[in-house]
Amino acid sequence: MEIIIRPDASAAVELVSSLLSQRIRSQPDCVLGLATGRTMEQLYESLARQPLSFRQCSTFNLDEYVGLTADDPQSYRHYMQQHLFSKTDIDLRNTHVPDGSASDLKQAASDYEQAIQAAGGIDVQLLGIGEAGHIGFNEPLSAIMSRTRDKCLTPTTRRQNAGMFGGDAERVPSRALTMGVGTILDAREIILLATGKAKAAIIAQAVEGPITSMVSASALQLHPNCKVIVDDDAASGLQGREYYDFVFDNEPEWADFRP
Ligand code: GLP
Repeated sequence: MEIIIRPDASAAVELVSSLLSQRIRSQPDCVLGLATGRTMEQLYESLARQPLSFRQCSTFNLDEYVGLTADDPQSYRHYMQQHLFSKTDIDLRNTHVPDGSASDLKQAASDYEQAIQAAGGIDVQLLGIGEAGHIGFNEPLSAIMSRTRDKCLTPTTRRQNAGMFGGDAERVPSRALTMGVGTILDAREIILLATGKAKAAIIAQAVEGPITSMVSASALQLHPNCKVIVDDDAASGLQGREYYDFVFDNEPEWADFRP
C-alpha cells in the first residue's frame, strides 16, 4: 500500500484524475471499477474536463441501492449518468451498475460477478470510504472474501448518505447490492480517494490499524497494488506521515506527478 498526501482536496482529486487519465491513454480498452459519493463528484468533473476518450473503456460500479430503478434520480446509475457518462464519449453498453431493482437479487449478484469475469476482470478499481470504513457498501463484518451480494446498511451509512434523499435518513434505502470485499480485492490495481476531516479517523484505522472485517477498508492492506490518496485533513490521524511523504518525494514512479 502506498499513501500519498496532498495539501488539499483539489490536489488529491487532481492526482487521482492524472493517474486515471494516464491509464486510459495507455490502455484505451481498460476495465474501470467506479465509485459514487460526494468525493467522486469532483473527480468526475475533473476527468470529464480532460481531453480523453472513454470510447473503448468498460466500467463496473461498486454498488446500487436495492429497490431503486436506473431512472430514479437517487440511484447510482443516475448519479453516474449525471456526473460522468453524459459528459464523455463512453459507450453506455459498456457501463455496468448492479441492478438494485432486480426481482431476484441473488441472480443479479451472480450475473454481475460473471460480467466482470467476462470483461477480463477490473484493471483499476476506484474507491471512496464511508465513515464506518465501508468500501462499496461492505458494512462492518462484511467477510473479507465476500462477493457481490445484497447487504443491510448501517444507520451511520444511511445518515451519511441522507443528503441525496432530502436530508432524511429514513428515506435512504436500507439495503444495497454491492461488490464484495473479495470482488474488490480481485482488481489488478486499487486507488482509494478520501478527503476532509470527517475521514481522518477511519483512514487511520484502515491504513495503520489491524486488518479486521469491522473496518472493510483495512482489507486493502492485503492488496499488492493499492494507492490511498488523501488530502491533509483526511491524513491528520496518520502516524507514519514522514515515510509516506518521503516515498512520494523520492520514488521514481511519482516523478511525473510531483508539483
Ligand atoms: C457511499 C458509497 C461508497 C462511498 C461512500 C463515501 O456510501 N456506497 O462507495 O465510498 O459513499 O461517500 P462520500 O464521498 O460522499 O463521503
